[in-house]
Amino acid sequence: MNNSNNQTSEKVEFNLFSEENSKDPFAMFAQMRAKGSVVPIPNPMGGAGQTWIVTRMDVAMEVLKDHSRFTVDMNSIDSGNDIRKNLSGELGSTEPQTFFTGKSMLFVDEPDHRRLRSLVSKAFTPRYMESLRPRVQEIADELIDQFEGKGEMDLVKDYAYPFPINVISEMLGIPQEDRPQIHVWSEAIAKGLGFGKQDPAVAQHLRSFAEYTSQLVANKRVEPSDDLISQLIAIEEEGDRLNEDELISMIMLLIFAGHETTSNLIATGSYLLLTHPEQLEQLKQDLNLVPSAVEELLRYNGPATSSGPRYATQDTELDGQLIQKGDVVIPLLKSANRDEQQFTDPEELDIERKIKRHLAFGHGIHMCLGAPLARVEGDVAFTTLLRRLPDIQLSIPQEKIQWHSALSSQGLAALPVKF
Ligand code: HEM
Repeated sequence: MNNSNNQTSEKVEFNLFSEENSKDPFAMFAQMRAKGSVVPIPNPMGGAGQTWIVTRMDVAMEVLKDHSRFTVDMNSIDSGNDIRKNLSGELGSTEPQTFFTGKSMLFVDEPDHRRLRSLVSKAFTPRYMESLRPRVQEIADELIDQFEGKGEMDLVKDYAYPFPINVISEMLGIPQEDRPQIHVWSEAIAKGLGFGKQDPAVAQHLRSFAEYTSQLVANKRVEPSDDLISQLIAIEEEGDRLNEDELISMIMLLIFAGHETTSNLIATGSYLLLTHPEQLEQLKQDLNLVPSAVEELLRYNGPATSSGPRYATQDTELDGQLIQKGDVVIPLLKSANRDEQQFTDPEELDIERKIKRHLAFGHGIHMCLGAPLARVEGDVAFTTLLRRLPDIQLSIPQEKIQWHSALSSQGLAALPVKF
């Protein structure tokens, strides 16, 4: 069966997992798009099942919005695909870390997904996020206060990381002294859990993180407060809408998803602005452009390389390509966001670009719950940085900047700046 997918017959093998490609993957993504919208790659776990990468926006949206054909829940399919066996082996099936992967809204489809998401969706509406803006602003100002007089900082360690973790921790009610440890766990998990990686240390980090979260819940049962965790505990205690495993899992997901990605938006976004001086100058001249710049930074190089994997629930066709039940399908968000069929000059950074849509937050029922929060944080983070430190510039040559990467996310190890 073929092919509106337009695959060329030339055999090209794409290695999404090589260190070199993951640092600057966009040339490879362009080659993949030229090959087709649905491109086979070798099974990253070394087994027999087929993995497909979706490179273009409209086909990625088709996958992400049709959860009856493409599910996030690998356990719901009985296909014998080796990828699934290997993945469950990697993550463990009865271990505490499956709290994170098995019981949270990100890894289940309807009807459980709707039930779980509706319990927290009110805490993440754009209107509620706007009400938090004054406190979010204070957190950003407090961080800059510490460095303003010093003339230099590591923008990753001193600003991009502590800012979102302090915001989500205040929302959830996580004590200040626990936040550095949470960062250690989530950074290790984000790096190690990338699709195609098998890092045994990840299981240990997930276990410690799950144990910490259980203890936090136990403490808050004794001493509730007005934070989101205490509200979720009250929901769990009052009836059958949320069970204990789901509660732990939900809190772990909110902690993890709520800062690693946003840190990367602030760090990578700052790097992009500092290395595009004319765009930076334009933004400094008119800080009202920051919300539009945030959308363009998300499109141009957003934190999430791909969505989570989807599993075909049936034999089906995707843009002319036959996909078999149990095959793994990965929408490559960063490639979809550079799709030349959707954007004019997609490889150009243009903070004034009028963007109809991008896929940096995914699409469909699993589209990022925290997008309204991330947008307020991005707006406040860049506005505050440029208003308070207008002379900011890189303090080492661009080529010396180190990246860390996984398929699912990519970020800067450090970003030394002076001002
Ligand atoms: C889901 C990206 C910030 C919470 C997602 C997904 C993406 C994403 C791509 C969909 C994954 C999939 O379909 O497989 C981002 C980016 C962020 C960000 C780029 C920052 C720039 C946040 C924040 C929170 C958050 C601040 C706050 C708690 C979540 C949750 C889900 C999710 C709970 C799962 C939603 C569901 O399954 O219904 N995010 N995220 N994210 N994100 Fe975010």
